[in-house]
Amino acid sequence: MKVLTIETTCDETAAAVITDDLEVLSAVVASQEELHQRYGGVVPEIASRAHVQRILPVIDQALRQSGQKLADLDAIAVATTPGLSGSLLIGLTAAKTLAALSGLPLVAINHLQAHIYACRIASGREVFPCIGLIASGGHSNLYRCEGPIDFTPIGATIDDAAGEAFDKVACLLGLPYPGGPAIEHAAQRGDRTRYRFPRPLLADAGRLDFSFSGLKTAVRYQVVGVGKLPESLSLSEQEVADVSASFQEAVVDCLVGKCEQALLQTGYTTLCVGGGVAANGRFRQRLEASSAERRYTLHIPPLSLCTDNAVMGAIAIERLRAGLIEPLDLDISPGLVR
Ligand code: KG4
Ligand code: ZN
Repeated sequence: MKVLTIETTCDETAAAVITDDLEVLSAVVASQEELHQRYGGVVPEIASRAHVQRILPVIDQALRQSGQKLADLDAIAVATTPGLSGSLLIGLTAAKTLAALSGLPLVAINHLQAHIYACRIASGREVFPCIGLIASGGHSNLYRCEGPIDFTPIGATIDDAAGEAFDKVACLLGLPYPGGPAIEHAAQRGDRTRYRFPRPLLADAGRLDFSFSGLKTAVRYQVVGVGKLPESLSLSEQEVADVSASFQEAVVDCLVGKCEQALLQTGYTTLCVGGGVAANGRFRQRLEASSAERRYTLHIPPLSLCTDNAVMGAIAIERLRAGLIEPLDLDISPGLVR
């Protein structure tokens, strides 16, 4: 079996062709980073328009790279939730058109579940049952994952997502978008103990939720001061590095801590981590140390499978196997999914 997967939930236009034994025949990602950089975040209207321009060349390239024609495939899969409405609609419209033209079945992908499934693809072996953490620009969610199509939410952020906090703090510090890689880079020369920022909800071990909004505000008060505007900010390079390192450590403490609490509460012994923030070197290092100390199996995909991509859409093969095929009037579901 071979499936074409399409991903347009946010600001990457991506397509891939994957076999049912998870061989990646092609993988194409067209990033829009440079379009959104000057705004310090993703502008939905710009993202939709860029997807319109890129979707057909990206699909075309994925098919050509894979050496497959549409007629050689067994299904068309597309991420339909969650994401930006306009962006999701471009991917879904392309997928529906291809499915209608070819008569191939249409399969829906939950983008969050796909981020966890990236661990299955990267590891090349079974990862379920596991605890799944997604830390991305829009989500910080914990799941109990019984199997590839059986996810139960057990925790989520009550305000900002981890990646969103990185992006907002980077903006405050005058660092470029996306903020995660910029903060990680600045933090390399910083002292992570210089500022003691809060670790919201971490001490509440019975609750598997996250909260990053207060942490972001604490950074703002620390570096800008109460009642002052960030425009008046004049931090030395060392101060930016120290704030970055201290902030990054606080986010990592919360993420690693809640994963440990989730494993302890459920008795699960495998952790799968996905989403853009999982590309963070300090986070990966701390997770490795935690898994060695607490003796659980850790799966984190390589960086290219942490940020948005279409390869993780291979989760569609599991749905296809389970007979979960969608009608051609399939709709998007943009809302924040737990
Ligand atoms: O999963 P993703 O590519 O898109 C969403 O579904 O949101 O995640 C993007 C988020 C952004 O907030 C970005 O700043 C963050 O992931 N990110 C990072 C790193 N690379 C990307 N955060 C921390 N450290 C990184 N190295
Ligand atoms: Zn994502």
